[in-house]
Amino acid sequence: MSRKGKVAVIGAGFYGSTTAQRLAEYDIFDEVVLTDIIEGRPEGLALDMNQSRPVEGFETKVTGQTTGTAGEGYEAIAGAGIVVITAGLPRKPGMSRMDLIEVNARIVRSVVESVAKHAPEAVLIVVSNPLDEMTALAAKVSGFPSSRVLGQAGMLDTARFSYFAAEKLGVPVGSVSTLTLGSHGDTMVPVPSACFVDGKPLASLLPADEIDALVDRTRNGGGEIVALLKTGSAYYAPSAAAARMARAVAEDSGAIMPVCAWVDGQYGISGVYLGVEAEIGSAGVRRVVERDLSDSELDALRAAAEAVRAKQADVASL
Ligand code: LAC
Repeated sequence: MSRKGKVAVIGAGFYGSTTAQRLAEYDIFDEVVLTDIIEGRPEGLALDMNQSRPVEGFETKVTGQTTGTAGEGYEAIAGAGIVVITAGLPRKPGMSRMDLIEVNARIVRSVVESVAKHAPEAVLIVVSNPLDEMTALAAKVSGFPSSRVLGQAGMLDTARFSYFAAEKLGVPVGSVSTLTLGSHGDTMVPVPSACFVDGKPLASLLPADEIDALVDRTRNGGGEIVALLKTGSAYYAPSAAAARMARAVAEDSGAIMPVCAWVDGQYGISGVYLGVEAEIGSAGVRRVVERDLSDSELDALRAAAEAVRAKQADVASL
């Protein structure tokens, strides 16, 4: 197997460390770098992951690096082609993702300054919350072309929706395909016209009120897990989604995925980071893919764009 390139994961909490683990286990990179400001944590986790290599049979080297708030230690990410930014606080029970905006904006701003300095050619995949706003902030602070900055949310929301639908219908998850667009939050836009089970429209298998219930559960999917865990938020499904996006970049695969991307004219929406489908390649977003939406789906997507646009303007000054 040929391995190449370096991918960095900023933040070694559960989300960051499981993302690093998944990326390492793909065995397609030379190196995965995991950083955190908690002294010794990334080094310890990296050592542990490296010791799993003989068992799991992967050769990708994992490097842990403690970083300082003034940018110390970021030399470790030099040359990274992809940087996944998980830095920031997770929610506590009862909090919305938006409650994290001020504290996480400060963290993401300082992280992105260091990342842009040491990995100026990287594609940034942002997962910090509130997602759409932190992605917009990362793009602004990095000064990177908008195509090289994207956020992870649609893959996760879609996966949750598909899982709930599969569970409800008692079918394999692999037979279900669903889609959500819009924001990773209250203005998440389910797209029933793009939801199928073994090729049959979801709407032909479940009544509208049951689909609405699945959509509501998806919209609150992160909060449901936060409430159960009591400390911290979800990370298995989020890291699976983020790692798949990084893999699509690494392999220049051209996969079409729902991601948070810069929208410039599609769906009659411009100048905002929003959850849409995009073709992913080595330079990040190759193009936003526009599909036919029903009138109500399009109205909801446009409303989501206006809601996140207002917040993205606020975040620039945080
Ligand atoms: C969630 C967080 C990670 O949705 O945004 O679980």
